[in-house]
Amino acid sequence: MKRLILVFTLLCTLFAARADEGMWLPCLIADRIDDMRAKGFRLTADDIYSINQASMKDAVVLFNGGCTGELISPEGLLLTNHHCGYGAIQSHSTVEHDYLTNGFWARSRAEELPNDRLWVRFLVRMEEVTDRLAAGESAESIRKEAEEGGRYRTAIEQMYYGNQQFLFVYEQFDDVRLVAAPPSSIGKFGGDTDNWIWPRHTGDFSLFRIYADADNRPAKYSPDNVPYRPARFFPISTKGLAEGDFTMIYGFPGNTQQYVTADAVAYVVERSDPMKIDLRTRRLEIISAAQEADAATRIRYAAKHANISNSWKKWQGELLGLQRLGTVEKKRAYEARFAEWAAEKPEYAHLLDSMHAAYLNETEGYFLQELYNESVRAIELLSVATAMKQAAKKLPEGFEAQLAKFYRDYDPSIDRKIAKALLHGLEEYHPQPLPQGYLDAVKRCGGIDSYVDQLFDASAFGSFEKTQALLRDTTALTAAIAREPVLELAEWFPRKRIPRNLSNLPAIERWYRPYLKALQEFDTERAFYPDANLTLRVAYGTMNGYWYADAVYHRPLTTIDGIIAKDDPNIYDYDIPQRLRDLYASKDYGPWSITKADGSTTVPVCFLATNHTTGGNSGSPVINARGELVGINFDRTWRSTMSDLEFDPNICRNIAVDIRYVLFVIDRIGGASALLQEMDLR
Ligand code: ARG
Ligand code: GLU
Repeated sequence: MKRLILVFTLLCTLFAARADEGMWLPCLIADRIDDMRAKGFRLTADDIYSINQASMKDAVVLFNGGCTGELISPEGLLLTNHHCGYGAIQSHSTVEHDYLTNGFWARSRAEELPNDRLWVRFLVRMEEVTDRLAAGESAESIRKEAEEGGRYRTAIEQMYYGNQQFLFVYEQFDDVRLVAAPPSSIGKFGGDTDNWIWPRHTGDFSLFRIYADADNRPAKYSPDNVPYRPARFFPISTKGLAEGDFTMIYGFPGNTQQYVTADAVAYVVERSDPMKIDLRTRRLEIISAAQEADAATRIRYAAKHANISNSWKKWQGELLGLQRLGTVEKKRAYEARFAEWAAEKPEYAHLLDSMHAAYLNETEGYFLQELYNESVRAIELLSVATAMKQAAKKLPEGFEAQLAKFYRDYDPSIDRKIAKALLHGLEEYHPQPLPQGYLDAVKRCGGIDSYVDQLFDASAFGSFEKTQALLRDTTALTAAIAREPVLELAEWFPRKRIPRNLSNLPAIERWYRPYLKALQEFDTERAFYPDANLTLRVAYGTMNGYWYADAVYHRPLTTIDGIIAKDDPNIYDYDIPQRLRDLYASKDYGPWSITKADGSTTVPVCFLATNHTTGGNSGSPVINARGELVGINFDRTWRSTMSDLEFDPNICRNIAVDIRYVLFVIDRIGGASALLQEMDLR
């Protein structure tokens, strides 16, 4: 009996562990609902996604094309991450009004700050259209019909490399205003040092509000617009979670590659990740040194540094994880079994060979493009010159304002150093002789460094003043472009648009379509879910710690005590607001505190869960068994980032900021308790 129970528990844990993997399509969530309920979920599939009644999906938005956000009040109040609102917060910040450093709290609706080019998108509905397309209907006509005369935006997205196609219908709002942001010492606490790390203490949230016209419809910014009234918003639970409690993430994961072959993983492990990591290390060293030397540079390069370092660290974890899991070898073994199975099936027998041949053909060209992107194309002077060349042909709307914004955060002396470092890197990684014209130019100047000096000295686009003057004098601009040495550099290393993944190159992808179909017939036990592609998904699991190393268990909840332990006025990223120190000293935590085992009180800050997430899931609501908001997703641990290719239930954890810390900061640091009044706190 005992043994039987043991076997049974073992089976359950194995199954439970496996089941945390996956990013499921909301319209098909009924297929998963039994498993979700077994994990503790109390609601129904219709509560998650419905086209007949308001459902959770009506409270989730794609935030500005790269993050997720969620509605938390009947008046259009929206929660996302601080790092997702970063661009908007930064754009309103100056040395005098430094909202990045000091935070921002609108004291009335009138103080909420409008933003150019910031939008959110709700999913109105999604539906499979594979059969309609197969029957000969055109994608254009399906979309046109769904757009309802321009009211909605639509997209047809490929699932399983095009074996299934889904229509997505969205409603977009363009008047989205900044309501509140904590100081960076809270919202970005730990900076790039703690990024991707557990234990974590970042209050990574910001608040926005969606505005609509008098009929609650999308409208361009106008002072007459009014707060949007959503069909649904999330109630907030202030009770928190215990380890093992159900969690669900509802959001827009961007990109995963679960089904690629061993060749593709080998490319990531052996070529792509190592090169990208190395070149970014060099770039970051230059930026960091400049930031440390000068406070204004620190602000101007903050967003750039964060962007460059974010993927840099992620790739390092991915590389380590794939090596540790032996993903390449595992896939080779899996493919050997597949090949045996496929041998008698003429439609599938050739597939792996065809894919292998395609990889041999295509990898080098893809690598070159990745290399150019991380070297030549990362020189900002080259980007601005290219943009000027295009502007000379056709001036885009708002171009001058964009330029002004670019130069505000641009330091040509930093860019010059970066250009030198990256062109050296290009030479080291370039697998074949470099273009002759480039080699000649470098030789003429007596080496890479003096070549770069000459580029920057001779460029017509080194400052905003020079560039702006040229914009107003077409003849001079044409002459400047003809002479511009950095444009010559651009031409030697032409940018080709490449898909995000090697497997999406047309010559390779065409084989993935039948391969995925074959895999589903071959591996009937496997629970297939489509790779992330920035469409709305549900991931579910539990709040859980993990074994970090032998004898080292990482518990899943951090508290304000850990912030105080890291606090250091001498380190920018760990220098917390004095107010937070005072609150810690007085323990004046209000309703947001919890009691620890030793009887003392503290405030919960971040927690871990087993949800399968990726980039794009930032800002996603973390929802409890009753459909209440308990946190905001913002990260994974860096050692779990290989989950984009292989999910390991033992290690892979997402990181969320506990909603009680968000409420505590709004209330006690921001003094913005009026905002709490519009929420439904439970
Ligand atoms: N790692 C998180 C993500 O991938 C957060 C990034 C922003 N934070 C930062 N310190 N750079 O987006
Ligand atoms: N911070 C990421 C984002 O911007 C989420 C972290 C991840 O990649 O899981 O979406």
